[in-house]
Amino acid sequence: MRGRRGLIALIAMLATVSGCGFNNDYVVKTDLSSKLGAKTGAIKVEKTIPAPDDITVHEEVITIPGLTEEFEIVFTADNHISLCDDRDSAVLEKAAKRYEYFKSFDDSYADESFETVIKYVESENPNLFVLGGDVVDSAMYAGIEFVSGELSKLEVPYLYGIGNHDFEYGDEYYSATAFSEYLPRLSQISDISNGVRSIEFDEVVVLIADDYCNKVTPAALAELQRVCSLGKTVIVSVHVPIEPGLGDSLWEMSKAIWGQGADARSRVLLGSNSCTPDETTQAFIDEILKADSPVKAVLAGHVHFYHKDMLNDKVVQFVAGPGFNKEVTKLILKPENIQK
Ligand SMILES: [Fe+2]
Repeated sequence: MRGRRGLIALIAMLATVSGCGFNNDYVVKTDLSSKLGAKTGAIKVEKTIPAPDDITVHEEVITIPGLTEEFEIVFTADNHISLCDDRDSAVLEKAAKRYEYFKSFDDSYADESFETVIKYVESENPNLFVLGGDVVDSAMYAGIEFVSGELSKLEVPYLYGIGNHDFEYGDEYYSATAFSEYLPRLSQISDISNGVRSIEFDEVVVLIADDYCNKVTPAALAELQRVCSLGKTVIVSVHVPIEPGLGDSLWEMSKAIWGQGADARSRVLLGSNSCTPDETTQAFIDEILKADSPVKAVLAGHVHFYHKDMLNDKVVQFVAGPGFNKEVTKLILKPENIQK
């Protein structure tokens, strides 16, 4: 997401939807539980719950047959932390403006909101914390060091994905310099060497793929194929959402907020009516959606509003509300025989 227009659009949308503050009623209009339950009898997505006092937690539960222990993921994305100091003096002015743009409903700055998210993760103590891209607004040393320092407080393991803004720098956006000089700065937080990381637990594997260029790497496809062969439940995280196969609401909202490209295509999703996936990325999506896929859910960000949709009749996608607004997604994978 670039610039003030988007933030204004977001604010306008939230004001339209909820009047003031936060209200998640619009999210559940997509009500997916009946589709899932009716078609699979195996997975149920429960209603998004409204906010606690100072952080908005979109809690989702998926029942997984065969799972013996509950597994919890806390997911955040689009925190857009724009901290800058004299080491990045050339971009101080822009960083200061962006710092003012990305504030929460209660006027907290993005770094303050991230501290709130970290405290929530500490208190919640999930099995895994996933950060789905655009956590920093630009590859400035101060922001990267701040995030690295906050993450170092955690005993919870985490996966950090790279979004389109994480390695932006001034006017360098998707430029050769952005890739050669600024993307490597993120290595302080995450292994960025091949565009994919995964972490394996007893019954669950979580994989995060860097799709900041609207495509994944061949290594990401290979790693997805590997983890899907382990006989475990798989959760995938990307930054750019996949265009849902069932329902148009994410596609329509994305176009309404972020504008549309030629032929009324969404500019911020991946799919046949959006940004066209390349061959590797399409194979990655196909692996997620194939009939016997162990992937149960996709966690994405990028569009700055909370949403959930069915990618097909088995795989649900949860798109994160903006982290700079103190929104997180809490995904609970629940054994079939345990009542929550
Ligand atoms: Fe993004």
